[in-house]
Amino acid sequence: MSELDIRDLHVNIEEKEIVKGVDLVVRQGEVHAIMGPNGTGKSTLAYTLMGHPDYSVTHGQAFFKGQNVLDLEPDQRAHLGLFLAFQYPVAIPGVTVANFLRTAINSRRKIENPEDKGIPIPAFRKLLKEKMDLLKMDHSFASRYLNEGFSGGEKKRAEILQMATLEPEIAILDETDSGLDIDALRIVSDGVNALRGPNLGVLIITHYNRILNYIKPDVVHVMLDGRIVESGGPDLAEHLEAHGYDWLREKTSSVTV
Ligand SMILES: Nc1ncnc2c1ncn2[C@@H]1O[C@H](COP(=O)(O)OP(=O)(O)O)[C@@H](O)[C@H]1O
Ligand SMILES: [Mg+2]
Repeated sequence: MSELDIRDLHVNIEEKEIVKGVDLVVRQGEVHAIMGPNGTGKSTLAYTLMGHPDYSVTHGQAFFKGQNVLDLEPDQRAHLGLFLAFQYPVAIPGVTVANFLRTAINSRRKIENPEDKGIPIPAFRKLLKEKMDLLKMDHSFASRYLNEGFSGGEKKRAEILQMATLEPEIAILDETDSGLDIDALRIVSDGVNALRGPNLGVLIITHYNRILNYIKPDVVHVMLDGRIVESGGPDLAEHLEAHGYDWLREKTSSVTV
């Protein structure tokens, strides 16, 4: 079983510490949610795991398959079996969803075996069809140009289809504040629910409690001011829904005083 093991991670943006010591283990087969109010460093954590260049790790590691992935390039992280959904996926004019996915699969295969000639087209078509059926997607979606003129929901569909075809061991999804309407939320939730199972670990980062009405995480974490201050089961999300975050702020400030 693979696991992503984040140890005492500290991250700066432009000299300012935003993530202030995060420890977290996500195993294959588990769905974790990180919740928390705006501005507490959730996206910073996600971007750091993705390898975004603006985020500098000042301390800590994130181990996956015996390597500190923070030392790896983003594509190497992906080839190792981490899936990092991009918050704002770029449009690639002239490249269809299918071509993009085949290229992504082939580059992962090539890392595993430099002699690999790529997935045969019939096998790829079969895989793509299976995954689109699993996700209840219209097959015509595969011939669209990636992200060109895509609605928010269609971008999410492309992202989830990418996750389905790449079959990562651990997926990190940052479902942020902006532009995630209820349709997009459902697409992500239904996708994660369709794909969840013993081989997939998910870390879903959100400030919407709402998404947790659709995805039942195994573990819920709360992030406040750059730290995970509370972890629990799905009942923690319900408690937050009813009581907000203030009780945790009080609890954590009384601990540090
Ligand atoms: N590119 C950036 N430059 C400077 N400050 C940033 C940048 N991105 C985020 N921040 C700051 O880092 C803090 C945490 O932001 P973020 O990780 O996006 O929080 P969350 O996802 O929990 O809402 C905020 O105070 C935000 O203003
Ligand atoms: Mg965010």
